Amino acid sequence: MLADKDRIFTNIYGFHDWGLEGARKRGCWSGTKGFIEKGRDWMVNEVKASGLRGRGGAGFPTGLKWSFMPKVIGERPHYLVVNADESEPGTCKDREILRHEPHLLVEGCLLAGAAMGCHTAFIYVRGEFIREREHLQAAVDQAYEARLIGKNNVNGWDFDIVVHHGAGAYICGEETAMLESLEGKKGQPRMKPPFPANVGLYGAPTTVNNVESIAVAGTIMRRGATWFNSIGRPNNAGTKLFCISGHVNRPCVVEEELGIPFRELIERHAGGVRGGWDNLLAVIPGGSSVRMVPAAQIIDTPMDFDSLSKLRSGLGTAAVIVMDKSTDLIKAIARLAYFYKHESCGQCTPCREGTGWMWRVMTRMAEGRAEKREIDMLLDVTKQIEGHTICALGDAAAWPIQGLIAHFRHVIEERIDQYAANPDHDGAVRRIAAE
Ligand SMILES: Cc1cc2nc3c(=O)[nH]c(=O)nc-3n(C[C@H](O)[C@H](O)[C@H](O)COP(=O)(O)O)c2cc1C
Ligand code: SF4
Repeated sequence: MLADKDRIFTNIYGFHDWGLEGARKRGCWSGTKGFIEKGRDWMVNEVKASGLRGRGGAGFPTGLKWSFMPKVIGERPHYLVVNADESEPGTCKDREILRHEPHLLVEGCLLAGAAMGCHTAFIYVRGEFIREREHLQAAVDQAYEARLIGKNNVNGWDFDIVVHHGAGAYICGEETAMLESLEGKKGQPRMKPPFPANVGLYGAPTTVNNVESIAVAGTIMRRGATWFNSIGRPNNAGTKLFCISGHVNRPCVVEEELGIPFRELIERHAGGVRGGWDNLLAVIPGGSSVRMVPAAQIIDTPMDFDSLSKLRSGLGTAAVIVMDKSTDLIKAIARLAYFYKHESCGQCTPCREGTGWMWRVMTRMAEGRAEKREIDMLLDVTKQIEGHTICALGDAAAWPIQGLIAHFRHVIEERIDQYAANPDHDGAVRRIAAE
């Protein structure tokens, strides 16, 4: 279990002052000027050496991403964009940083900005987040007032922060859709390449990072890359905010060591599974976009990027959705299918048509009003969407259904049998008679 002394987010529950004075008491804004004076290379290398992997879902190494920004500032300025869209079902960690630890994010923006030659950061906040935006804006205002950011600030790196409020579309969390939206256009993902580090916001070099990735940067520099890297497991370093929801006794957001075994995470912080461990059915370990894992496979699994991808799932945003034996898994995945259908931006045919098709079939399967041969047909459609679209929303729509079929095909088949056996269902009776 993570020791209290190793926690980065010491006010994640909002028990203390979230403003500048409180943040300073917790160590934020100390040594900031000194890190900037050490130069861009030092800052990038420190984050690289810490082993920090992006906390927005894909786990891409943060320091490496920063190093992709051009070394020399050309005709166009460099930009940092912070992704505070947090719309992945089950995910509720960045909002706690915005509400209760906003100064860690503001300081992180300045440091990340200086490390990449940016003098401006845009923080794109999810449309539904009102209190979060208010606290963040207040923290930014406090930082300007104290001359921690702005022109000729005490830290020696001119820096502006713009807080931008989105309008509530999940797709705007995809990094290139976010750039389009910031430019005032419809939030629709761009084709890559070119990648944002070369052609990003307003055509200028841009790096997009998740709130948590940026908010930990100050503490990593203060305590050192070696400290961060010593927590967790090889290639899966550091502390991580886990969002635990579903059928546990005490749902919560908690900072823990990456690689903590699933059972320990749930026992220690969420009061165990509702009805006991024998009542556990399956877990979606990384937000709605990853494949579910059956109980027996996940109980002793370390909760980190590599261990979960070995189970053909993923750590994603570390939004752990626990499902006990009362869960109607088919209905749950049908509901997620509706979400992806609703949020598809409609640019690519496989996603636009496929998400609606999958949702309709899933809805029938939840009732049992389907043919068994349709299970393979559905699986085939998920494979035609996966990897064949402009952005990863297509994959995100396909994977939950693939997870259901991989592990719980028998449940779908039983539902179809039950439906067919019910004499009230005319079509089903005719089918049985024909067989
Ligand atoms: C449909 C979709 C929605 C996404 N939503 C978010 C989001 O809300 N927050 C986020 O940080 N990343 C989100 N991402 C991932 C971003 O595109 C990007 O990879 C991430 O912000 C990079 O941050 P990191 O390198 O710090 O992890 C989303 C991706 C997709 C495809
Ligand atoms: S995969 Fe879906 S959401 Fe992404 S660009 Fe294509 S249509 Fe839009």
